Amino acid sequence: MEREAVLAAFRDLTGRDAETAAYAPGRVNLIGEHTDYNEGFVLPAAIDRGVALAARRVSGDAFTLHAVDLRESCTFGRSSLERDGRYPWADYFKGVVWALANRGFSIPACEVAVTGDIPRGAGLSSSAAYEVAAVLLCQSLGGLDLPAQEIAKLAREAENGFVGVACGIMDQMAAVFGEKGRALLLDCRSLAREAVDIPSGIKIVVVNSGVRHSLAGSEYNTRRAQCDEGVRLLSVSLPQVGSLRDVAPEALVRLLPDLPPVVAKRCWHVVLENARVHEAVAAMRSGDLAQLRTLMAASHFSLRDDYEVSCPELDILVDLALAQPRCHGARLTGAGFGGSTVNLVEAEAVESFSRAVLAGYRERSGRSADVHVFEPSAGARSL
Ligand code: GLA
Repeated sequence: MEREAVLAAFRDLTGRDAETAAYAPGRVNLIGEHTDYNEGFVLPAAIDRGVALAARRVSGDAFTLHAVDLRESCTFGRSSLERDGRYPWADYFKGVVWALANRGFSIPACEVAVTGDIPRGAGLSSSAAYEVAAVLLCQSLGGLDLPAQEIAKLAREAENGFVGVACGIMDQMAAVFGEKGRALLLDCRSLAREAVDIPSGIKIVVVNSGVRHSLAGSEYNTRRAQCDEGVRLLSVSLPQVGSLRDVAPEALVRLLPDLPPVVAKRCWHVVLENARVHEAVAAMRSGDLAQLRTLMAASHFSLRDDYEVSCPELDILVDLALAQPRCHGARLTGAGFGGSTVNLVEAEAVESFSRAVLAGYRERSGRSADVHVFEPSAGARSL
């Protein structure tokens, strides 16, 4: 997303030049799904698509937002920060103003243009990108100097406390700390991070199923509650367990029969998925592509069977991808219930892979998908 594009959009809409602008990328998660809110491990990469905001201070107390791509605008006062079903896209910015106000930071009233090029509803975290870019923009408007980790945390507070989605911190951390050409191994408890190179010659290919993840809100929160229930029950025998991150697979095997069946399945997914993240990092570092493929497939099957967040369309896409000889990993990415799959494909095979998967998908699901090849990219920045 070009700096010039958002500045030009601002000028067109308002007739004036913006004072400041910010950008944050979306993300694709390679492995480690539904582990972040269990204080576990994830391996996302920021992508070369994102959300850009440009702004200028105005007198008075009203904020005006323009959604460039939707051709909609809305105005709200600082004292009436509430969600508005007519302009759901504005909630993310309001959420950031709200989260900053909770920390005692007051942002000057301003006029803002928002634009982006992340496919929406595809599970690529356009909302986290928007929130992170909004925090950066507000930081510049308000003359604040926030540490990078605080930017990610504030963005998540906006999503949790204002927008009302109880997401973990993976997406916001990826949007802030993304690196060119690399994925990010993130410990969601300590927030320690390590960059992991994408194996050479491999492209990250995202296939959007076209199924919008509409169930995501309520089902997502249900999964979280089931994990919390697992922690509560397991900590009776294992008092040191504060989250599923603390449970070893061997200990869980012993205690599974004591758990309600659904809770047992959810815990099994999370505990093994955490282990798979470390194994996948080792496989990427040693160039063991066969092992990477096995781990990503195991992640998908676990999300399908134990965590129950896949859908027939995503299963078809993974099945088709795994039938391609030069594909070294395929799984659903993000919360699930629709959205996209992530595939690791040899650069020279991307075209034949795309052709085969798109044709097979049309035949088996009656739907059309779209394919994106993303470059792992740097994180958020002021423009
Ligand atoms: C969504 C949430 C993330 C994470 C994933 C599942 O993208 O925003 O915090 O929980 O789902 O891994």
